[in-house]
Amino acid sequence: GQIGKDGYRHFMEKELHEHPVAIGQTLQRIIDPVTRRVALPDMPFDVATLSRATITACGSAFYAGMVGRYWLEELARLPVDIDVASELRYRNPPQPDKGLALLISQSGETADTLGVLRELKGAGQSIVSILNVEHSTMGRESDLVLGMVAGPEISVASTKAFTAQLSVLAALTIDFSRQRGLLSEQKERELTDNLLDLPSHAMEVLGLFDQIRTMARVIAQARDVLYLGRGICMPVAQEGALKLKEISYIHAEAYAAGELKHGPISLIDPSVPVVAIAPSTILFDKTLSNLQEARARGGCILVFTDAKGAERLKDIAEHIVILPDVSAFAAPILYTIPVQILAYEVALLKGTDVDQPRNLAKSVTVE
Ligand code: G6P
Repeated sequence: GQIGKDGYRHFMEKELHEHPVAIGQTLQRIIDPVTRRVALPDMPFDVATLSRATITACGSAFYAGMVGRYWLEELARLPVDIDVASELRYRNPPQPDKGLALLISQSGETADTLGVLRELKGAGQSIVSILNVEHSTMGRESDLVLGMVAGPEISVASTKAFTAQLSVLAALTIDFSRQRGLLSEQKERELTDNLLDLPSHAMEVLGLFDQIRTMARVIAQARDVLYLGRGICMPVAQEGALKLKEISYIHAEAYAAGELKHGPISLIDPSVPVVAIAPSTILFDKTLSNLQEARARGGCILVFTDAKGAERLKDIAEHIVILPDVSAFAAPILYTIPVQILAYEVALLKGTDVDQPRNLAKSVTVE
């Protein structure tokens, strides 16, 4: 039947509230609840001897892929090349024998991503796609589809599909790490437990709309916003900046926090809010000192962190939103949610057409 807003003001608001379900249902399909081990279909290549993977996607899905790169390199010791599809398509990089091309797409119809699929298939790569719409063109042309179970996503700006994509990538990382002889059973259970806790943590984050709105009031006044993150939270900063641009029309840029001093610090003054994605588990001291530098130049610092991080940031941050404690492994999935809510709240204050932002399409099927 027809998909409604179920009493929410926008599809985006409804879909933000579906993060816990999207993550939970996606994980349910790939983690055995009894053994708490990942159970993915057999890969169409030998995971143990795989020499390299290429990841590609467009838009938000690309940032999910960036998180995937950090996971696969760190935990599965797999070298990863990653690029947006519109670039990779024409870069013609050398491909390894029997390499893996990992494609990520909500719709399975994005023209550039599909173009890369065909290009790399022709170059002899195994095509594995992470898709929400499994019966799509990419679904038909892939060697293997790993489905996310996010349900239909109507809002042009992607929300729950992103955390579902990350859930699949996290499980894939665990699977690869085990197959490459790098993961004990105990460590595997620890990682899957981290993931299985996410739906309830995500529910807690959905209780933070009011706090996030306080931050949104600062951002809604700004012309430019800087998003900072480090390591595996850097792509979360990029997703935050993209979402803000898409639906509030405020210019935002994301930077690896360590790059601040190599350029963007010259932009900082009290009119440029700095949003930091800073769980205490990920390079926290380094991020803290980057934020101190920004603060010293009059920057207005807004932070997403946990209770431990908040204690250390309280003297320099204007607003802090405290999230549940999670492992570094699970952090990029959880921290995405408040960052998307922030963009939504700013768009509400700006009065934009949240579900149908100007000039954007849900799925871009032309090049
Ligand atoms: C469009 C949408 C984005 C989406 C991107 C990729 O630009 O506005 O929200 O992330 O396409 O779409 P896909 O369906 O391939 O994930």
